[in-house]
Amino acid sequence: MAPDSDVTLDLPSVDGVTPADWSARREQWLELFSDHVYGRTPAVDWTVTTGEVGAAVEVDGGSGIRRQLQITISDGVASVVVDVLLVLPVAGPSPVLVALNFFGNHTVTPDADVALPAGWVPARMVPSDGHRASETARGFLAEGWPLDTLLRQGFGMATVYAGDIAPDDPDHVTEGLLGLTQPQHDHPWGALGAWAWGLSCVRRVLAERDDVRADQMVAIGHSRLGKAALWAGAQDEGFAAVVSNNSGCGGASLSRRPVGERVAAITTSFPHWFTPAFAGYAGREHALPVDQHQLLASIAPRALYVASAAEDEWADPVGEYLATAAALEVHQALGSARVGYHLRPGGHALGPEDWEHVLTFLRHHVTAAPDR
Ligand code: GCU
Repeated sequence: MAPDSDVTLDLPSVDGVTPADWSARREQWLELFSDHVYGRTPAVDWTVTTGEVGAAVEVDGGSGIRRQLQITISDGVASVVVDVLLVLPVAGPSPVLVALNFFGNHTVTPDADVALPAGWVPARMVPSDGHRASETARGFLAEGWPLDTLLRQGFGMATVYAGDIAPDDPDHVTEGLLGLTQPQHDHPWGALGAWAWGLSCVRRVLAERDDVRADQMVAIGHSRLGKAALWAGAQDEGFAAVVSNNSGCGGASLSRRPVGERVAAITTSFPHWFTPAFAGYAGREHALPVDQHQLLASIAPRALYVASAAEDEWADPVGEYLATAAALEVHQALGSARVGYHLRPGGHALGPEDWEHVLTFLRHHVTAAPDR
């Protein structure tokens, strides 16, 4: 790991939060994140409709049921269709982890009837047919998605291809929610904002179901999708818990720390993720009126879990730890200490060890604590 800088970070203060002023403080921080980092989540009256496609299928020897839902979001002129792969324990109602995936629902399970994304997909890491989804990628990433383990521990999982909401490419990003009619202003949202909105949209749809515990919904994500999970959970109090894995810059790590990925690099490589103002802090992160510990604090008093990997220097695991520790003070001031962190050996990935710690945390602090 790179040596720690001895630069004083001078983080924006999170001191003195009280239950009485919490809602106003949190609102203020969310406004700052909107204006300077992620962009404003538009207040729009898009129509959201949901249907089930295909048959419900028994999985894991009958302990679970897999469904495919289709959410259509329309501005009256154009619409965006989001495919949800939903796996629930038969014995419910169940807590549900809501997660975006990078390459398509068909990559997280080998099951032949899971729909391929219709739109643009990245042409890296998993097989594709140019920028179109390919059958050869079916189940390609299934090892990273331990659906059977989740089911056996009583958890459901809802996953959506992030590109259904906003394709992860500057030239294609408007082929999702960013292409729908929305108010124009100085702080437009980018892909991270849209992904976060998508997570909330899925949560709201699932919260209506009898087989889901609406009070035990968890936003979870890895890397760029961990950034989106944090921003979703910070804004949407309907999430009982938020988990980020190796989310790094623009996620759980502190922008002010001169370690790993910095604002200049991230806004150059991924200009479409943020509101344009964020790029203006390249090399002058100290001028940002917020830092990422306030994002983690904005989740309080709901449960928060941050996972880091020791060799993932790009995500600055120490910065992720320091942000979590700073946010813990706010969670404690609000009477909750449901904040977890782990640093495991190894590199950038959401692997079995991460899942094990995350599920233990959720079992203890979110789903199995009736006297909390
Ligand atoms: C890149 C990017 C990170 C991001 C990561 C990922 O490395 O610089 O900010 O978290 O991709 O999403 O895997």
